[in-house]
Amino acid sequence: MSFDQIIDRRGSNSSKWDMMEAATGVGAEDAIAMWVADMDFAAPDFLQEAVQGLLDKANYGYFTGEAEMKDAAAWWMRERHGWTAEPDAMFSTYGLGNGIAMALQAFTEPGDEVIIFSPVYHEFARKIAKGKRVVKESPLVIQDGVYRMDLDALEASLSGRERAVLFCSPHNPAGRVWSREELQALAAFCVRHDLLLISDEIHHDLIYPDQKHIPMAVAVPEVSDRLIMLTSASKTFNIAGSRLGLVTIADEGLRARFADVYRALDVSPNLLGVVLTQAAYSPRGAAWVDALVRYLDTNQQIFRGAVAEIPGLSAMPMQSTYLAWVDFTNTGMSMEEVTKRVKQGARLAPNMGADFGTGGEQCMRFNLALPKARLTEATDRLRAAFSDLQ
Ligand SMILES: Cc1ncc(COP(=O)(O)O)c(C=O)c1O
Repeated sequence: MSFDQIIDRRGSNSSKWDMMEAATGVGAEDAIAMWVADMDFAAPDFLQEAVQGLLDKANYGYFTGEAEMKDAAAWWMRERHGWTAEPDAMFSTYGLGNGIAMALQAFTEPGDEVIIFSPVYHEFARKIAKGKRVVKESPLVIQDGVYRMDLDALEASLSGRERAVLFCSPHNPAGRVWSREELQALAAFCVRHDLLLISDEIHHDLIYPDQKHIPMAVAVPEVSDRLIMLTSASKTFNIAGSRLGLVTIADEGLRARFADVYRALDVSPNLLGVVLTQAAYSPRGAAWVDALVRYLDTNQQIFRGAVAEIPGLSAMPMQSTYLAWVDFTNTGMSMEEVTKRVKQGARLAPNMGADFGTGGEQCMRFNLALPKARLTEATDRLRAAFSDLQ
């Protein structure tokens, strides 16, 4: 399988392609989907073989294998991230979104405030609100061209009702890889204000060559008594449809509280999620991810290079993820005009930055996980849509 292979995902029940028109309003025949965070690459052989093994058995009844999958996940975290995550400390959830929602249920009460660093993955705010908790945004500030947390401003704005921080590491959108010092400062903040720290590290494998992602559990082992680690193979291996996330809780007391909610809701993993996750967290998986990251790195360079040539547009440097964050402020145009040019002019369907909360209003998020030929087509069209600014 080559990452260059163009796959027509229309009509395949892909949300990204088959819901594009309804969700983004971009319906042109040659439209390019750049919104939902999944990749337009065919599944690698080792995943196909795992599914074939399942088909060969011709049996979809109750199953074993969760323990082996967790062992594989523990191996991956140790090998790839230097993090010793005990399989017994892991819970398999229905996708990671479900893991976030259950953590909020387990550790906070309705009315409690949950801190997020905006702009951030739009589902954070939605899940907090759906659980009848209250979103407290701490807007990121831009320094040296990248996002940074402003913990002083956050401290000054505390109401006393905050119970938890829901953190995204690396950050979605904009792909910020947080430094050890930043992670330590956040953890110290949580200790000072007695906050639970929920660290969503779903994008942790897609890190560009000169960067190093440090799992929160490695950066600040001393806060394990308030730390919830969230991971999944879904972004790394493009298997979000198999709905499996992992919530890892080292602290026994916190683990027991989470287990109460997990048991009460009768959550258990599904067969496909277990089979694909186990196959993914393997030496073959590791080699594939290394090749994937190299491919995505050239994609992000192509995209950011093209954006840099368009006056008024700026793409934040990408340290990780395939999600580019483009700021249109300096075009001097309204976002209505920008949106018209991107959606109707260029026939591209990115995410609207405003959905990511305060700070995202003038931005759009572009998914760059697509074959190069299609990416180049997208950048050509973006250039053409703003050609009068040249
Ligand atoms: C930071 C973050 N957390 C969680 C999710 C959702 O994970 P899942 O599809 O496993 O529910 C996403 C998906 O884009 C994400 O970016």
